[in-house]
Amino acid sequence: MSAKVRGVKGTRDVLPVDTYVKSDDPWLRIGHYHLIEQSARELFPLYGYREARTPILERTELFVRGIGAVTDIVGKEMYTFDDHGDMVSMRPENTASLVRAYVEHAVNQQEPETKWWYLGPMFRRERQQRGRYRQFTQIGIEAFGSPGPRIDAEQIELLDRWLRKLGIPFEMHLNTLGDGQCRPKYREALQAYLRAHSAELCEECNKRIETNPIRVLDCKNPKCQEVAAGAPKMEQYLCDPCRAHFEALQKALQALNVAYLTDPKLVRGLDYYTRTTYEAIATSGLGAQSTVAGGGRYDGLVRELGGPDVPGIGFAAGVERMALLVAQQGHDGATKPALFIAPLGDAEAARADQIAQQLRAAGLGVEVSFRKANPGNQLKRADALGARYALVLGDAELQSGRAKLKELKTGAQTEVALDALAGFLRGNA
Ligand code: HAM
Repeated sequence: MSAKVRGVKGTRDVLPVDTYVKSDDPWLRIGHYHLIEQSARELFPLYGYREARTPILERTELFVRGIGAVTDIVGKEMYTFDDHGDMVSMRPENTASLVRAYVEHAVNQQEPETKWWYLGPMFRRERQQRGRYRQFTQIGIEAFGSPGPRIDAEQIELLDRWLRKLGIPFEMHLNTLGDGQCRPKYREALQAYLRAHSAELCEECNKRIETNPIRVLDCKNPKCQEVAAGAPKMEQYLCDPCRAHFEALQKALQALNVAYLTDPKLVRGLDYYTRTTYEAIATSGLGAQSTVAGGGRYDGLVRELGGPDVPGIGFAAGVERMALLVAQQGHDGATKPALFIAPLGDAEAARADQIAQQLRAAGLGVEVSFRKANPGNQLKRADALGARYALVLGDAELQSGRAKLKELKTGAQTEVALDALAGFLRGNA
C-alpha cells in the first residue's frame, strides 16, 4: 500500500496514527506508543528515575569513542554529516549522549548517585523490516555512581515489571562480560580458537576475529553458531571480583523473584559494556527482531569520555517492537469519539458546532462532519471512526430540540433532548 509523492522519493517510514488509516505496518498505532510511554512515565519515577532530554545531533566523535569504532552501529549505521567543519551524527542511541551530559554538567559533584530516564527517536541506517526501522523510538534508563550488583538487580526487576504490566511475553537473558582485568585474557583465548576455525566462519566473522571477536558469538549464520558453541566461555575466565558480582546479582534477582536465564551468547553490539549484560527477548510475536530491550553495565564509559571514574548501568527498549507486541494483546490503540454528529443543512451545521463545543468542554470526544453527504455515508464514517453514538441532525431535530442517538455497535436508538446530551453520554460512556 504505497503511492509516490511526485518527484520525491519515499523515506519508507512507518506511520503510527490511528485505526482508520492503514499504513504499511497496520499494527503500529499511536495509541500503543502512548500506552507504553505513559506506563514508563508512571513506573520509572517510582524507582527514582528523572527524565532527561538531550539533543538528537551530537558530535560524531562521541559515538566513535563511546560506542566503539569497530561496532556495526558506528562502522556502517550512523547518519553523519559535516556541519560547517564539525562532523555530527544523528544519535543512534542515547547512552553516550547522557554520559556526555553527565560529564559536561559535572553531575557527580552535585550528587553521588544519579538516575535518569529518556524517551525519543534514534537513527540507524539498517535494512528495514518488521521491528527494524531507520528511525525508531527508545525508552531507556541510566544510573550513574552505583557500583552494583544491587542496582543491576533493581533495573532488571524494573524492566521485568514494566514488560509484564504491558502483557508482553518475554524471557530475561543475563550474562557477564567481565572487566578490564579478565576480558583481555578471554579475548586472547577466543581469538586463538576462532583463528583455528576461520575456514568455517563467514566473511564478516573472519574480520571480527581481529576487530571484535566476541561478536562472533552472536552471529546468526548457522556455521558460525556451530563454531561459537565450542568456543571458550567467558565464565571460565572471570576474575574473582567479576565472578562475585555475577553471583551476587543472581542471588539478588532470586530474592526479588525475577525469572531469568543465563546466556553466554549475550554479548551486545556496543563496546562499552563491562560485567552485567541483559536483554528481554520476546518469546512470540516478533520474528527475527525479537529483542525488546537490552542493556548492561558500562563502568569505564564516563572516564573514557573525559569524566571521573564513575560506574554506570542502563537499558533501552524499542518502542516500535513493544507496540507490535502490545497490539497482539488485543488493545486496539485508538482514541474513539463518544459521538459523531452529521448535520444535514447549514442551520444544523451551526447548531452541531455549538453542541460539539459544549460536549468537548464537558470532556467528551466529539467529531462533527464537515462534508455534505447522505446519512448512510455519514453513518459509515462514524463507524470507521469507532464512535460510540451517531446523531443525524436535521430540521425536525432543531425544531423539537430532541434527537435520536444511534448506538453504532448495537443499532439501538434512544431519543434524547439536545441539551441533555452531555449527561446521557457520560452516563453511558
Ligand atoms: P541496543 O541493543 O542497540 O542498545 O538497542 C536497544 C533496543 O532498541 C533494542 O533491543 C531494540 O528493541 C531497539 N532497537 C535498536 N535498533 C532498532 C531499530 N533499527 N529499529 C527498531 N528498534 C531498534 C542500546 O541502544 C543501548 N544504548 C542500551 C543501553 C542503555 N545500554 C546501557 N544503557
